[in-house]
Amino acid sequence: METVLSGIRSTGNLHLGNYFGAVKNFIKMQEKNNCYFFIADYHSLTTYPTPEDLHNSVKSVLSEYLACGLDPEKSAIFVQSDLPQIPELYLLLNMNAYVGELERTTSFKDKVRTQPNNVNAGLLTYPVLMAADILIHKAQKVPVGKDQEQNLEMARKFAKRFNHMYKVDYFPEPQPYNFGEQLVKVPGLDGTGKMGKTAGNGIYLIDTDKDIRKKVMRAVTDSGPQAPDTPPSEPIQNLFTLMQLVSAPDTLQFFKDKYKDCSIRYGDLKKQLAEDIIAFITPIRERILEVKSNEEFLRKVAQTGAEKAAISANKTIREVREIIGFRKF
Ligand code: TRP
Repeated sequence: METVLSGIRSTGNLHLGNYFGAVKNFIKMQEKNNCYFFIADYHSLTTYPTPEDLHNSVKSVLSEYLACGLDPEKSAIFVQSDLPQIPELYLLLNMNAYVGELERTTSFKDKVRTQPNNVNAGLLTYPVLMAADILIHKAQKVPVGKDQEQNLEMARKFAKRFNHMYKVDYFPEPQPYNFGEQLVKVPGLDGTGKMGKTAGNGIYLIDTDKDIRKKVMRAVTDSGPQAPDTPPSEPIQNLFTLMQLVSAPDTLQFFKDKYKDCSIRYGDLKKQLAEDIIAFITPIRERILEVKSNEEFLRKVAQTGAEKAAISANKTIREVREIIGFRKF
């Protein structure tokens, strides 16, 4: 069995795009791998959340993933800051991470450009902390989106460098986890692009019925089909794509036929889509609220997860200290 590790940003709620994308794949992934899932709360400190926000974000993210089906029996689900072995490995890895290579990463250069008044050392060494997250469990695979590929490449570099420096074959070089089939691309409501790309184009799993109706009714459309049997424009195709995910097949067919013979009324399409999204999301939202209010359950999950994760983390730290040459008198 392969060891797969996935870091989850500690901020931001899940939207339907996340649900049909990463989250569904995580659920599948945990069936046939030795999985570690953790909430990356140390990483979020680069943006200075208040103590309340820090805690509440971790709680929300953890609750949402659990409600969607991450299973604490199958995987180690933990909070990054519960594992002191991570910052220890981070310190050790920092000793052979070069300032030059860290300054050259695209995400760091972006931060320097967008927030020149707050270029903290945590931002610079963000890839080192991420490498520590991965290497502490000697993970072989990491599911990453496009924006994290360079960080994963850095993790491979640090693993290789450590092995070379101490003439050992200790850390595996973590590879991207391949989901096999194509990732589902869920469109947003603003007519173009993916859900979540721009503010306000997403339906969140915790949105109320009222939020959902309002957002769907405001979705971008066009001026209607101009002639029978013409292919729909992008915004309309997007609504059909969403419908395909949440509605019954004959509902989708009904509206597609209406589009085809130019008798469609977008208002009706949207009303139906909103109700079908609501029916889809309601049980998930109820589960999220239930999990979130169950402090005892959350405490247990985080504790059990940290205990599981500590087994491999302690082993790695022990061995790394030995390799580096920290010895007892
Ligand atoms: N940087 C990742 C993100 O922004 C989160 C993350 C932190 C991560 N540590 C990780 C992802 C380790 C994978 C492995 O999404």
